[in-house]
Amino acid sequence: MQISVIGTGYVGLVTGACLAEVGNDVLCMDLDAHKINRLKQGDIPIYEPGLDDIVKRNIAAGRLRFTTDVVESASHGAIQFIAVGTPPDEDGSADMQYVIAAARAIGQSMQEYKVIVDKSTVPVGTAEKVRAAIQEELSKRGSKLKFNVASNPEFLKEGAAVDDFMRPDRIVVGVDDERTANLMRALYAPFQRNHERLIVMDIKSAELTKYAANAMLATRISFMNELAMLAEKMGADIEQVRHGIGSDPRIGYHFLYAGCGYGGSCFPKDVQALQRTANECGRELKILGAVEAANESQKKVLIAKIAARFGNDLTGRHFALWGLAFKPNTDDMRDAPSRVLIKDLWERGATVTAYDPAAMHEARRIFGNDPRLMVADSSMAALEDADALVIVTEWKAFRSPDFAAMKSKLKAPIIFDGRNLYEPRDLRAEGIEYFPIGRSA
Ligand code: UDX
Repeated sequence: MQISVIGTGYVGLVTGACLAEVGNDVLCMDLDAHKINRLKQGDIPIYEPGLDDIVKRNIAAGRLRFTTDVVESASHGAIQFIAVGTPPDEDGSADMQYVIAAARAIGQSMQEYKVIVDKSTVPVGTAEKVRAAIQEELSKRGSKLKFNVASNPEFLKEGAAVDDFMRPDRIVVGVDDERTANLMRALYAPFQRNHERLIVMDIKSAELTKYAANAMLATRISFMNELAMLAEKMGADIEQVRHGIGSDPRIGYHFLYAGCGYGGSCFPKDVQALQRTANECGRELKILGAVEAANESQKKVLIAKIAARFGNDLTGRHFALWGLAFKPNTDDMRDAPSRVLIKDLWERGATVTAYDPAAMHEARRIFGNDPRLMVADSSMAALEDADALVIVTEWKAFRSPDFAAMKSKLKAPIIFDGRNLYEPRDLRAEGIEYFPIGRSA
């Protein structure tokens, strides 16, 4: 099939590359000429395991091309994916200007029947707006061309995006006509596994499904974080509680990890956008307000523990930080708990040496060359002369360190662990003062 993908951000690039991988003829369009030039040479602007290979292989095979030409992209694909960004507006709602601009561009240039698919995470009702924008542009041209719109929200996780796309748990497709449903079935046939993964529904339900999934997951995390706080107060252990409740198949083990808060490009933004949608309908989702507030406080949990141990004034103190990315296997620091922690440490007069396997460049981009943030080129090097180690991201490489070597580098053997990587009793045996989340040390 001939496919155009508008927007070469995370979702667009993964979608384009993976659809090319199964034999489609894919053209990815972005207005950012610099980015497109890099992509044409197989230079991937994001860190995502496996994506590099897949992009290069499909460019070489001639199945994946890149362009800045709106007209070329509007005429290429029988299916036109809109995968542009929907950054949060000041009021927390998703900013739809890029989605609507993409729709208009298609309406201005299309020359035959098209199916336009919303892949960006968009509020309920967007498909209608996309349809109206295209129709308006066609009318301006006096064109009677036909088109259909579908919603196909993306559920990929950063760090596992290629695998999530190639071997999906589910593919949600919102349509309001059988012709589009059949086209989407054919498009996704190569990704079906042992049982049917495609769930076809109406457009608004598909749009809401995406927000509902992310809000549900964020709710689980915030709930566990609040329970962790309680467990700590009561002398219970959140890890044992997690085992205990996760074994109930109605609850399950996933996304039950207490930590120093969720970040990333999806949960914070989607929780806010769903609340905003509810407000627009004259309703309030009370739970979501609490989920967000709990997460904001959770990002402060590490600094509170540090202040309780070292005092509020941290002038002259120096901390080693393991992990900057909002989660492992990505260099993404959007809404990362590490950012809140670094600022809190600075405000109290401390300095930081950080190490992250992927996000060092991103940290420099965000914080510039501020002398209060130093970077180390290994996890061990970061510990040199630090008053304590603070762990913010659960990279695998941090899970079984050489504790003896750690102790020889730190000024005192103290670890604040925002991701519960170690067993408190093991660290006690090592003579390390350990501050996990929701567990008595
Ligand atoms: C999420 C959804 O999982 C994905 O389906 C959707 O398409 C986009 O949003 P992503 O933002 O890439 O994906 O990361 P995810 O793995 O879901 O983690 C989000 C945040 O929650 C991270 O900061 C992570 O550390 C935190 N988290 C996750 C917890 O604190 N506890 C958990 O148990 C799981």
